[in-house]
Amino acid sequence: MIEHKLFEPYKLGDLLLKNRMAMAPLTRCRAKDNIPNSLMAEYYAQRANAGLLIAEGTSPSPNGLGYTNIPGSYSEAQMQGWAQVCKAVKENQGHIFLQMMHTGRVGHTDNLPEGGELIAPSAVANPNMISTYNLGRVPYPVPRALTTEEVKTTIDEFTFSAEKSIEAGFDGIEIHCAHGYLPNQFLNPETNLREDNYGGSIQKRCRFVLEVMEEMIAKIGKNKTAIRISPFSYFEKNMHPSEIKETYKYLLTAFNKLEPVYVHLSFMGENEDAIYDLWKDIRKWYSGTIIVCGSYTTEKAILAIDNNIADMVAFGRDYIHNPDLEYRLQNNIPLNEGDKSTYYGLGPEGYTDYPFAEKV
Ligand code: PHB
Repeated sequence: MIEHKLFEPYKLGDLLLKNRMAMAPLTRCRAKDNIPNSLMAEYYAQRANAGLLIAEGTSPSPNGLGYTNIPGSYSEAQMQGWAQVCKAVKENQGHIFLQMMHTGRVGHTDNLPEGGELIAPSAVANPNMISTYNLGRVPYPVPRALTTEEVKTTIDEFTFSAEKSIEAGFDGIEIHCAHGYLPNQFLNPETNLREDNYGGSIQKRCRFVLEVMEEMIAKIGKNKTAIRISPFSYFEKNMHPSEIKETYKYLLTAFNKLEPVYVHLSFMGENEDAIYDLWKDIRKWYSGTIIVCGSYTTEKAILAIDNNIADMVAFGRDYIHNPDLEYRLQNNIPLNEGDKSTYYGLGPEGYTDYPFAEKV
C-alpha cells in the first residue's frame, strides 16, 4: 500500500476531502434530452472515492448545449436530475462540484434545444467537424456574435445556474474556461475580434470570465467558486506563446484577488515539458489551491505534490474505466482497460459496468 499525502485528507475551502484526488470532468453524453438521470447518479456515486468529483461539462443556457445529450443546469427538470446525482454522491460521503460549460461556437444548431442559438464572442467558425443528432458529422456552422447587451445576459445565465446548482446540492461550481469553450473563446484573439469592452486588449478579453467569476462569487461565495483553464490546450488554435504568458499572468493575478477556491490546470496536448514553466509561474501568481490534470500516473501525481506544482491531482480517463481508481492506485492494482467506443452514447454499457477490484 502506498503511503502518501495524495491519499490523505485535504481541506478545500470549507470541505474536508477524503484525499487529494479529483475526478476530472468528462463529457459522457448520457443525459438524454439534456436532463441528468438515475444512471448518471449511479455512475457518480460509484466514483465518490475521489476526494472531489467534478461533474461533466454542463450548460447554464440552451445556447451552450452544443454537443448531443450533454446536461444543462437551468431548467426545473435538469435541477431535479442533478439533485438525484448530488444525493447519491452524498450518500457515499463524496463531494461534488459541477463544471459549468457553455460551448459557445463549439456546437451545432442541430444539437441545440428549442430556443438555443449558436453564439460566440465573434462570428468565427470552428474549423473542424462535429457530431450531430440528425446530420451525422458535419462542419461547424458560423456562430452569431453576441451583442454587448447579450454578453451581460450570458453572464447572468452563469450566475443564475450557479445558484440553482448549489440549491440542487452541489458543493461548488467550476467555471470551464479551458479547451476552447465560450469563456476561452473570449480570451483568445483568434476567436475574439470584438471592439467593445469585451475584446481587444488582454484586460478586455479577460473581462468576460472575470465578470462571471465576480458575480458568481457575489451569489454563491468564493469557497464555492472555482475555475479550469488550459493555456496550452485550445484545440483549434492556441494563442502565441508570448501572449499566453501575459494573458495568464493578468488572469491569475486577478484570480488571486477574487480568491476562487481552486484553479484547475488542464493539459491535453503532447509536449508536456512545455507546460511546467508556466505551471510554476501560476503557483507564484495565485496562492490558493491548484489542481493539475493531464494523463497523471500515481508516480507523476506524487511528484507534482512533492515538487509543490499542485495541491491536488485530477484523473480523467482512468476514472472512466476504474470506478474504484483511488483504491487501485493506492494498492498498486492493475487498471481496467477502457473501451473508447462507449465513451460517448446513451446507456450503461462502458459507463456503470466497469468492475471494482477485489479488496486485498
Ligand atoms: C470532449 O467531449 O471531447 C471534451 C469536452 C470538454 C472538454 C474537453 C473535451 O473540456
